[in-house]
Amino acid sequence: MSTDPSTDFAAVQTGYAAYSSGGRGRLRHDITARRVLDELGDRGAHVLDVGCGDGEMVLRLAAAGHRVVGVEKSPGMLATATGRVAAAPDLAGRVTLLEGDIGNLPYADSSFDAVVCHGVVMYLPDSAAPVADLARLVAADGILSVLTKNSLAVGVREALTGRYATARAQIESGQAASVGNLGITTRGDTPDHLDDLARAAGLTPLPWQGVRIFHDHRTDWKPTETEYQEALATEWAASSRSPYRELGRLVHAVARREGAA
Ligand SMILES: C[S@@+](CC[C@H](N)C(=O)[O-])C[C@H]1O[C@@H](n2cnc3c(N)ncnc32)[C@H](O)[C@@H]1O
Repeated sequence: MSTDPSTDFAAVQTGYAAYSSGGRGRLRHDITARRVLDELGDRGAHVLDVGCGDGEMVLRLAAAGHRVVGVEKSPGMLATATGRVAAAPDLAGRVTLLEGDIGNLPYADSSFDAVVCHGVVMYLPDSAAPVADLARLVAADGILSVLTKNSLAVGVREALTGRYATARAQIESGQAASVGNLGITTRGDTPDHLDDLARAAGLTPLPWQGVRIFHDHRTDWKPTETEYQEALATEWAASSRSPYRELGRLVHAVARREGAA
């Protein structure tokens, strides 16, 4: 696909909606949301979600009682998020949605108790600048939550789906780029690199998670609700344990700014 998602994510919006609401997308949202909500506790946080897409995490965080600002570059994605928020009037008072770019966020340092950026930096040329831009917005005792492609696991999906030549090339070269769910080439990072970037920005890394370890290759997975809940519990258990977490398609890097709120 030749489209540049950093400027025109709307071109793959239908594909993203199908992925996001399917079993694999649901796993990713459930695991990351649970972790972010666990870290926030019941403090009634002010949260920024950058590259908020269709608003899935915005809605989940608002439903948990937090005040959420969602920033999104794609007007089409933003329109979908706006429509979803409008359909949830009990949450709308806690949500603000804005068009904007991760490289130009109009907020003062330390403005948010949590800054969330899920599934975005893998589409950008590198992670150093965006992580620094996001980290500066995190207040004392606040967290940064970055979900991106795990370059340790490059080739795993390809091998498990029988695309052996592609898998072998990726495994032998250790290349960090591969084609993602939407048919777009995405870039990966190692968890250690993300932790180093957080440290460089003055944050303390918390344990990272591997996300979608056992189900990433099951592209047409349609679990029953019972099977889904069992799968989710299993993925959650493995997400924080080695050697499983290293094989997650995605890495969820979480870091805290030390200091009293
Ligand atoms: C894969 S979607 C993820 C959406 C959402 N965060 C989620 O987890 O469901 C990536 C989103 O990042 C947005 N995006 C890409 N580049 C961006 C940028 N430079 N600034 C802000 N958003 C960006 C895209 O428009 C798209 O909505």
